[in-house]
Parts: sequence; C-alpha cells; structure tokens
Amino acid sequence: MSNFKSLVSGVGNLSKTTKYYDDWSENYDATLKLWNYQAPKKSIKFLIEKINIKPKNILDLACGTGLFGAELKKVYPKSHIYGSDISKKSLKISSGKKIYKKLQIKNFEQLHHYKIKFDLISLIGSMTYCKNFDKFFANINKNIKEKGFVIFTHRIDLWDKQDFLSILKKHQKSLKINKISRPVNYLPLNKDFKNKIKIKIVLLQKY
Ligand SMILES: C[S@@+](CC[C@H](N)C(=O)[O-])C[C@H]1O[C@@H](n2cnc3c(N)ncnc32)[C@H](O)[C@@H]1O
Repeated sequence: MSNFKSLVSGVGNLSKTTKYYDDWSENYDATLKLWNYQAPKKSIKFLIEKINIKPKNILDLACGTGLFGAELKKVYPKSHIYGSDISKKSLKISSGKKIYKKLQIKNFEQLHHYKIKFDLISLIGSMTYCKNFDKFFANINKNIKEKGFVIFTHRIDLWDKQDFLSILKKHQKSLKINKISRPVNYLPLNKDFKNKIKIKIVLLQKY
C-alpha cells in the first residue's frame, strides 16, 4: 500500500476511500498484524465484560476483511453475524473466512434494510470515515432492537476535534451511553499512530 499517511488524515470522499481499501484488501490483514492492530481484541474484551447477553443477531458495519467479525465469532459462535462495507474487495476476503451469514456492499451512513432487528451493532476502526453522524445514528436506530447494544471505536484526536461527546449526548434520547473506555492503544507499531493516537471504545444501549 503506497500511502499510509492517508490513514491518519482520513481518505477523503467515498470513492477514494473505497479505492483505498479495495487496493489494500489483499495485504490489509498482514499489514495490520505488523502494526499490532488492537481495536478488535480490545473491543471484544470490553464488550464481554460489559454485557451479559449472547446476541442472537449482530450487524458489523464497515466490517472490512472481517477482523472484528472473527473476534465476534470466537465469543458468540452461535450468533448470526451480518456485515457491510463499501469495499467490495475487502468483502470478498471476509466472505472467504466464513464468519458472516450475509454481506452487503453499503455505506454505513445509508439506511440498511433487514427483516430482523439486531441485538448488537458494531463499527470498529471506522468512525474516522463518518461524515454525517445524524445519518449514521439514523441507520443504527432503524436496525437496533430495543435494549440492543452498539459498540464502536473512535480516535481520540478526532473525538476532541469534533466534540464527539456532545454528538453522543445529542443522540442520548434513543441511545443511552452505557460506557466509554479510557484511551487505549490503536496501532502501536505504526509510526504515525504509536502511542500518539489512541482510541476510545464506546458502548451504547437502545432505550
Ligand atoms: C480500518 S478498516 C476497519 C475494518 C474492520 N472493521 C476492522 O476492524 O478490521 C475501515 C473500513 O471502513 C470501511 N469504510 C470506510 N468508510 C465507509 C463507509 N462510509 N461505509 C461503510 N464502510 C466504510 C473501509 O472500506 C474499511 O473496510
């Protein structure tokens, strides 16, 4: 992958982001292993410590090549896990891992249409790309079950810049803030991130 820098800055418009992850898809898992990508393992640990239900239906937004899906599958082997992403090539890779019941190419800011409601919705390592939080939360609210959980990560540099806590508070009428983690490492072996850019893990619950 040629332009690692753009991982820090965010990639830009949707078609650029799609191309970026399509081009990276073959090497994505190996690269993230080199950088000791922490978000999937830390998020699953955070999740199982905080919730005591076994989610029957899970929607993994921006699932990419399925790194968080794999963690979900380990702890919830009987759950039906659905995934979506804008990168067709990443979805081809996650499809090969036999984690997901169904995958679709879709922007997480667009309403997803399913016949079921989900017990858990996740967005790991991808909030960076959210341009319109109202649209993202509309999609969540449409698809989450009553009392269902939402887990996502967000970079703390962007969190501060966007005053992200007030964004969460704005949506608190429908999605209660259950827990926000302290800053945790994200890509500790990547020179641009190291211990400079950490993430918070957030757990919300539908009223
Ligand atoms: C850093 S990867 C994280 C993938 C996966 N969740 C993981 O933890 O490995 C970011 C993913 O977000 C996807 N993405 C970026 N913007 C998106 C959008 N608006 N809608 C859906 N997926 C998006 C990319 O295609 C990429 O697969």
